Amino acid sequence: MSARAKILMIDPTHFDVSYRINPWMKPDLWARDPEGFRAAARTASDALHRALSRAGCDVIVGAGRPGLPDMVFPANAAIVLDGRALLARFRYPQRQGEEAAFLAMFEALRAQGLLAEVAQFPDGCHQEGAGDAIWDANRQWFWAAHGPRSSRESLAHISGFFGQEVVPMELVSDRCYHLDVCFCPLSGGEILYFPPALTQDALRNLRERVPADMLIEATEEDLARFSVNAVNVGRQVVMATPPDRLRSVLNERGYRVVPIELSPFMMSGGGAYCMTLRLDRASVPEASVGNGRREAAMA
Ligand code: ARG
Repeated sequence: MSARAKILMIDPTHFDVSYRINPWMKPDLWARDPEGFRAAARTASDALHRALSRAGCDVIVGAGRPGLPDMVFPANAAIVLDGRALLARFRYPQRQGEEAAFLAMFEALRAQGLLAEVAQFPDGCHQEGAGDAIWDANRQWFWAAHGPRSSRESLAHISGFFGQEVVPMELVSDRCYHLDVCFCPLSGGEILYFPPALTQDALRNLRERVPADMLIEATEEDLARFSVNAVNVGRQVVMATPPDRLRSVLNERGYRVVPIELSPFMMSGGGAYCMTLRLDRASVPEASVGNGRREAAMA
């Protein structure tokens, strides 16, 4: 009875790499052939859209805006659960203009009945959406980062707004500036993650909560190819073309990997997950859960 996943993507017409707010961004390279890269970005975005549709998702495409190239990463726009959207406050001035643009877009989604409520983090409380607050459908909590982009105070706000548990995952470096670059819960309960990205406290917390056989360590290469930044729907994992090793690790666990060529977006520090935002994530009411373990929710 699993409903179709609803995924927001943003049209890439206005995408470019013109500034550098994370160490993966390559404005100099982009400047050598903006038209060529923009055409390649269109092809890549279309390929992702097609793969998600084939994986059984409904994809909704929102318009970007000139001067806001990183709108193509709607994972940073908001956290959405149970039809309620909590909109981001961006750390860097280069992205702060997205707040008003996404507010208008989310209000329109609400008017269409795709969302029930739209709220914002308080002014000055930095938080960059589902890129830094990842819903774990099996465990029914948010893994939420603080560090380069989202503030520590944002975590209490997330749990207050959604009434859900928030497990802090502090990030140590600018390379993993969002949690989704280095951390990906899968539908079977596994977590694909890059250990050096997390503080000792975060690692301890993770290992106390998730059994060792459910933790899949990503390598430096997996990270650099943006393959950890994946969209998992059922047993399919849509990701920027991964190294063979990661592909076989996931195959052995019963997942089908759908590789997509996303290099134009990797020049901005993004992969498949951050080019999407799930609008249909739902919590399982506590009362409907038998023995205290809310397993096998949809993912
Ligand atoms: N250039 C964008 C930035 O630095 C990339 C965002 C990618 N999003 C993500 N959730 N990882 O903000």
